[in-house]
Amino acid sequence: MSTTPKAQPVSRLRCIACGATPDSADQDFRCTTCGDLLEFVFPGWTGETGLDPSPHDPSALKDLWLRRRISVGNDRSAALDQSGVWRFRELLPHLPEENVITLREGNTPLYSLPRCARAAGVDHLQAKHQGMNPTASFKDTGMTVAASAAHQGKFRWVACASTGNTSASMAAYAARGNMRSLVLIPEGKISWGKLSQSLDYGALTCQLRTDFDGCVRILNELVRQKPVYLLNSVNPYRIEGQKTAAIELMEQLGWEPPDHIIVPGGNLGNSSAIGKALVEMQELRLMSRLPKLSIIQAEGANPFYRSVREFGGKKLEPMIADTLASAIRIGNPASWKKALRVLQATGGEVEQVTEVEIAIAKAEIGADGIGCEPASAVTLAGLKKLRRSGFVKAGDSVVLILTGHLLKDPDFTIQFHRGDLFTGVTEEGEAARAKSLQRGPVVLDADLGAVIAALDAAEGIQNSQC
Ligand code: F0G
Repeated sequence: MSTTPKAQPVSRLRCIACGATPDSADQDFRCTTCGDLLEFVFPGWTGETGLDPSPHDPSALKDLWLRRRISVGNDRSAALDQSGVWRFRELLPHLPEENVITLREGNTPLYSLPRCARAAGVDHLQAKHQGMNPTASFKDTGMTVAASAAHQGKFRWVACASTGNTSASMAAYAARGNMRSLVLIPEGKISWGKLSQSLDYGALTCQLRTDFDGCVRILNELVRQKPVYLLNSVNPYRIEGQKTAAIELMEQLGWEPPDHIIVPGGNLGNSSAIGKALVEMQELRLMSRLPKLSIIQAEGANPFYRSVREFGGKKLEPMIADTLASAIRIGNPASWKKALRVLQATGGEVEQVTEVEIAIAKAEIGADGIGCEPASAVTLAGLKKLRRSGFVKAGDSVVLILTGHLLKDPDFTIQFHRGDLFTGVTEEGEAARAKSLQRGPVVLDADLGAVIAALDAAEGIQNSQC
C-alpha cells in the first residue's frame, strides 16, 4: 500500500542574506551574489499547491503521514512511505521517486530518561535517539535527500569533509546509489568506528594532516575544479532532510510541543534544520506553539556560544577547536547564521559545557540504558546548566536530541570507565560523580569464588550508593 499525493510543493532556493533566488545552486552552494548560504523556501505553501492533501489541511497531512508508516511491500513507493524522511515528503523539495536513495532512515525512538531527569532536576525528560538511524547517526536523514539530489544530477562522485559521521553516512548512501564517494577527514581526530564505516562502504578516504576546518577549505577548492557533488550541510537538501527529525518528534508527542528541545552544536546544520522545521510546522498550523530550541557546545569548540554571548550574534570569530567530543571539534561553523536565526525565532539559549561535564552526562545517559556518543551528551550537560540558570524550570517538558550511537566512539567510553579519560580533574564534586558512574572491567582468574566475591563487592557498592 502506498499513498502518493498528486503533485509536490513548489520549492525554491533563496539566499539567507541578500534574498537572491537563483534557479539552481553552484557547486559550492554559495550565493553567487553575496557568497552566503542558500536555503529552500516553499512559496507553494502560501498559494494554490495542487496537492492532495494540501499543506493547508493539517489534520489530513497528519493522517497521511501516519498511514504511510504502516505501508507494506518492497517496491519503490512502499520504501518511500516506510522511510521516516520521505513519508513527510510534502514538506520537502520535490525529487523524482526513481532518484531516491533510501535506507529506511528516520523512524527513530523517543525514550524517557528517568535517571537523567533526576540528575538534571526536571520532571519530564525524553530523548529522541537519532543514533538509531541506519549508519547510527542523525546524518542519514539529511543524506538520503542530498544523495538523491546528486543521483538526480547524474554525478559520478560525491564528497564531504567530516568529523566522521557525515562521511560514514555519505559513503553508505553513495554506495546504495552506485556513486563513488570521496571523504576528507582530519588525520587522527575521528573515532575508529566512524572511519571503519566509510572504508567498508567503499569510500575513497583521505586522512588530511589538518583539522575539520582545514578539510572544509580543501573541499571547497576541490568542488570548484572537479565535477564532484558537495554533501556537507551547506548543501540545503541536507537541511531539508534533517528537518524530519522534528516533524517525527512532534508526531510522537501527539503534536503537543515540548517546552524545550536541546541539540548539540558543531557545524550548526542540525540545529538550523530542526529550528526550520519548528517554524514551518507552526506556519502550517501543524502545532500551536514553538518549543524553545537551545544549542550546546563544548567549551573547547565554542565559537557559536561566544558569538552569541560576546558579540550578540553580530559576528563569529573562528577558533582552533579542541574537545574529546570529536564530532563537534569544529572552529568555524558554516551554518552559524541559520542557527542564530532559529535561536532567535524560538527564544532558545546557547550554552557551553566542560569535558568532564560531557563525560559525566554521557555515562548518565548510558546508565539509563540508552547510551550515545560524546557529542550527543552535551545536551544533558547543557540542560543541567540551563536548569541551574533558571532558563529551564523543573516542571518543563524537555527533549534532548541524541545525535550518535554509543558504539560510534568506544575508546572514549572505555577510557572513561577505566578512569583514564582525564588527568587532573580538580573539582571534587565532579570527580566523585564521575567515580560513581565508572564501571571499569574487572579481570579475574577463571574461578567461581573470584566471580562471587566480585558480585558481592558490587552489591556492597550499590547499597552504599543507594
Ligand atoms: N553530534 C554528532 C554525533 C555529530 O556527528 C555532529 C556533527 C554534531 C552533533 C553536530 O551537528 O554539525 O549539524 O551542528 N558532525 C559532522 C560530521 C560535522 O562531519 O560528521 P552539526
